[in-house]
Amino acid sequence: MVFPTTDSPNFDWLIQSDRVHRCLYTDPALFELEMERIFGGTWNYLGHDSELPQPGSFVRRTLGRRPILLTWGRDGQIHGLFNRCTHRGTLLVTADRGCSQRLTCPYHGWCFDLDGHLHTLPVAESYANPHKASFHLGQLRVETYRGLIFGTLAADPPKLANWLGAALPWLDEHLNRHPKGTIRLLDSPVRLEFAGNWKLLWDNAADGIHATFAHRSYNQLGHQAKTKTVLARNPASTPMVSQTLGHGHCVVDQRPGIPGGPWSTMRQLPTCEELEGSLRAQYPPELLDLATGNMVNLSLFPNLILVGNQLMVIEPLAVDRTRINLYLAVATDVPEEINLLRLRVDEDFVSFGTPDDLAIFERIQEGLGIPEEEWLDISRGEQAGDRQDDWGRVTGSIASEAPIRAYWQEWKRLMREPVPLKVRRAVVRD
Ligand code: FES
Ligand SMILES: [Fe+2]
Repeated sequence: MVFPTTDSPNFDWLIQSDRVHRCLYTDPALFELEMERIFGGTWNYLGHDSELPQPGSFVRRTLGRRPILLTWGRDGQIHGLFNRCTHRGTLLVTADRGCSQRLTCPYHGWCFDLDGHLHTLPVAESYANPHKASFHLGQLRVETYRGLIFGTLAADPPKLANWLGAALPWLDEHLNRHPKGTIRLLDSPVRLEFAGNWKLLWDNAADGIHATFAHRSYNQLGHQAKTKTVLARNPASTPMVSQTLGHGHCVVDQRPGIPGGPWSTMRQLPTCEELEGSLRAQYPPELLDLATGNMVNLSLFPNLILVGNQLMVIEPLAVDRTRINLYLAVATDVPEEINLLRLRVDEDFVSFGTPDDLAIFERIQEGLGIPEEEWLDISRGEQAGDRQDDWGRVTGSIASEAPIRAYWQEWKRLMREPVPLKVRRAVVRD
């Protein structure tokens, strides 16, 4: 059947306990609604404070498909500004990052402070009130947790820490393994695109079975190098676990399956031997684990997945097109060899594993183009040992599809009960 997008969607029919409808991945009108209600109405990850090193720093981002600037304003605050001139809509900034006292529109020269205030405009006397509030740049609500910057357009959002909820201890643990508990992001992300819907990444994030099949060539490389690779085992019998964390968040903890620690899973990489030798000669061997990810993948719905030492930021471009931005996090206050090794380690899966996922996503999107085949099955795990706690969070094996069912429930909640959105603006100065 064809889904009638012009009417109010029947979300309970589209998202059932054990299956979801194909149009959730293919319908352009639903995608537009997602941009408003999910990539607008809830907290989205935007950036990290290490990307704004000094007053005047800015980076270019998106909230859904809205062009955004993250800035460090002269008021000392971090701002999330619409990257749109309030005169007639020109994109203010096209550089990915920079540092500037002000932002000047190239069309008619309106000039804005980095806190969003309209600073000056040419022929100001031709306006009755040249500094009225509506001329200041539109802004998001922005909150930071331990350096991670999130933004939302919700008029009255929950506190960021409450929204992170059960994911918070996992995020703390991720950061605490670094000396001083801080990370720094390298400037330029690796950008990848695929011809598929953004939620295919969410279906994949905690799917432990696909790795055995989709990443077969990667696994073979690992076996040939005699590493303790974790991917190729029988997914139904590994001690690795997945857990739903509320609000669509989830975590996959691979550590119970790798008693030798993260470094034992690594295979030979270019320059690895020298760097490892140098570290072993000077430091306790446990330090090497800091050169790999912590083997815990933490997914914060809707657009951030902490995987390895990277922050994977999901950027929906169209109903059938998605960009992935991979930001490498380096540790501060560690021997240089650690961060050089992190670069090599991060290249490994991105080069030999991620292309498998992207190819599969594109094949799924193509398969979902058949209108007569309406449903995707998400039932796995319900009858296979999932345990639910008093708060409704589910812990299961990595063969469970509980994280998929859980994010769909959050998706449904956000889509069915949209919250009011509000564009904030700087207050008019006296
Ligand atoms: S559109 Fe920006 S100054 Fe006119
Ligand atoms: Fe994968």
